[in-house]
Amino acid sequence: MTDLFTPIKLGSMQLSNRIVMAPLTRNRAAMPGNIPQEINVTYYTQRASAGLIITEASPISAMGHGYPATPGIHTAQQVAGWKKVVDAVHAEGGRIVLQLWHVGRISHPSLLPKNALPVAPSALKPAGQAFTYQGLQDFVTPRALNTAEIEAVINEYRVGAQHALQAGFDGVEIHSANGYLLDQFLRDSTNKRFDQYGGSIENRTRLLLEVTATVCKVWGSDRVGVRISPINPFNDIHDSNPQALFNHAADELNQFKLAYLHAVEIGINSSGPLQEFDFVQLRRRFKSNYIANGSYDFARGTAAVSENKADCIAYGVPFIANPDLVERFKLNAPLNTPDHTTFYGGAEHGYTDYPALDKTL
Ligand code: PHB
Repeated sequence: MTDLFTPIKLGSMQLSNRIVMAPLTRNRAAMPGNIPQEINVTYYTQRASAGLIITEASPISAMGHGYPATPGIHTAQQVAGWKKVVDAVHAEGGRIVLQLWHVGRISHPSLLPKNALPVAPSALKPAGQAFTYQGLQDFVTPRALNTAEIEAVINEYRVGAQHALQAGFDGVEIHSANGYLLDQFLRDSTNKRFDQYGGSIENRTRLLLEVTATVCKVWGSDRVGVRISPINPFNDIHDSNPQALFNHAADELNQFKLAYLHAVEIGINSSGPLQEFDFVQLRRRFKSNYIANGSYDFARGTAAVSENKADCIAYGVPFIANPDLVERFKLNAPLNTPDHTTFYGGAEHGYTDYPALDKTL
């Protein structure tokens, strides 16, 4: 029987198990410069027994930032910092891909060069507040990218992908989820454009496909994954027909023969009822590997993999609190309790000081 400990190949990445560390924003890069630093090396290395680590989202450009102290992939110092992370994870036998991120409108002028307005498919202000260095501040109305500027954004993905290659990663994941830039183009509550990037499902999917083609040219498609979140309302986003939209996206992504599609199957921080969505249908339409994410525990993850509803399971919060999650699952050992107050920002506490199992017990 296939279970979470059965090795798998995602494209050309050979994983020793199917327990994937989900991308987790932790806001502990060195400032100024948003540079990966020594505690980040320790944190990721502690978690190297995951079948695959997907890094926290990493902005591809200065305009792609939306939170304090998030490690980017657009400067030479950031590439050098990430290289230390990658080398240390590889030395432990782990696999690690970088998540390429542009937040679009989920930002604030105080986080952007020259206090620029955030950019988006359309000039629509998200409800809610941005996390800034001055605390929570209301979102502002972003500036709509013009068609020529979209080409420049695609080029930023190319450069980010090249930088990830230089840093020695095993691959990259394109972040097209959770209400950030590519998701803002996909969904019809945030994309009101009249050019070839707006309107029909085909047009709204265009930017994701162009970015994917560009990143695949840098990496080879067997080392590229895409993350989506079809029904996640996080960051004030919605689509009138997510099944049709994401079925189309999956059908079109098939042309690339990607390493994997990674789906957030839940709503992040959402309390109300979610839209209906058939993830098994999505998984069947997508012809390569499917990573499922969203509040899975060991039992549900094992069931999903053994019933072939997913190839791998990405665990987020359990990996925050349990650096040795794979071993704990294997031994059916109890898990550490996550401390939500230390998820975002701070230093070692709540980051690198969660204990591993005591081997002498
Ligand atoms: C967050 O900072 O809350 C965050 C970042 C990236 C995501 C989701 C959530 O994809």
